[in-house]
Amino acid sequence: MKPSGRKVCFMTGASGKLGSEIALSIAGQGYTVFFTWHSSEQRALDLLEKIRWISPESMMQRCDISKTADIATAFAAFRKQFERLDLLMASASNFFSTPLPDVSEEQWDSLVDTNLKGTFFTMQEAVKIMQQQESGRIITMSDISAGLVWSDFAPYTVSKAGIQHLTRIFARKYAPRILVNSIAPGTISEYHENTPGPAEELTEKIPLRRLGDPLDIVRTIIFLLENDYITGQVINVDGGRLLR
Ligand SMILES: NC(=O)c1ccc[n+]([C@@H]2O[C@H](COP(=O)([O-])OP(=O)(O)OC[C@H]3O[C@@H](n4cnc5c(N)ncnc54)[C@H](OP(=O)(O)O)[C@@H]3O)[C@@H](O)[C@H]2O)c1
Repeated sequence: MKPSGRKVCFMTGASGKLGSEIALSIAGQGYTVFFTWHSSEQRALDLLEKIRWISPESMMQRCDISKTADIATAFAAFRKQFERLDLLMASASNFFSTPLPDVSEEQWDSLVDTNLKGTFFTMQEAVKIMQQQESGRIITMSDISAGLVWSDFAPYTVSKAGIQHLTRIFARKYAPRILVNSIAPGTISEYHENTPGPAEELTEKIPLRRLGDPLDIVRTIIFLLENDYITGQVINVDGGRLLR
């Protein structure tokens, strides 16, 4: 650990819309955050400036998590700076529609390699460090669409379902030292343009009658960070959307 004594988090996808709010909240929980970005350099720079107000040793690194070599490079840079890893927050994700039957190999690879393969190899690097120190937490970001049948989003939803299963596999394998859980957001209000259908139509399908707020996700992360007896779970933060 760095001399400041703060816990250390490695986070992917911190330059994302929800991701940047998650990164800030983790810093606010007393973590130094080493985060990765891919194409949004300015968003990453703006985030780093904000994070350093509360967590001055935080750092950022470019990384394409669809490439295992990039993941290895990012973890090598991380290890140079930090002696331990308390939390992996795996949030990087690619999202676009791919209506059947015209999904190309390139689209499939882009979605599945980023979301599923990238999350797997990031988790694999993280547990190497966590096993040595005999402790750690991993939180993956999935999506309630993993449990819905969206034919226009097959590679995306399959990748998120895969992340949920990876979460269970890692939780079983690395218990009792490493806790592994997943958060599956429903539609987060600020970002509903990413999801098919107008906001009013979506709200009608949600028993709690509103879209999600980034704070709903942040509160769930804090809940998981404070709880030592939950592992292998997927927590749907969706206002009851999956209730049938
Ligand atoms: N926001 C929602 O309503 C919602 C709903 C359900 C689930 N989720 C999940 O919650 C998480 C956070 O969402 P968000 O709103 O922050 O998503 P977002 O705004 O789409 O951001 C995606 C993040 O992933 C990174 N990324 C994309 N491709 C990458 C690659 N090849 N290598 C490395 N990083 C890559 C992006 O980096 P660059 O921008 O730097 O390229 C960005 O930081 C995601 O896992 C998402 O699937 C979100």
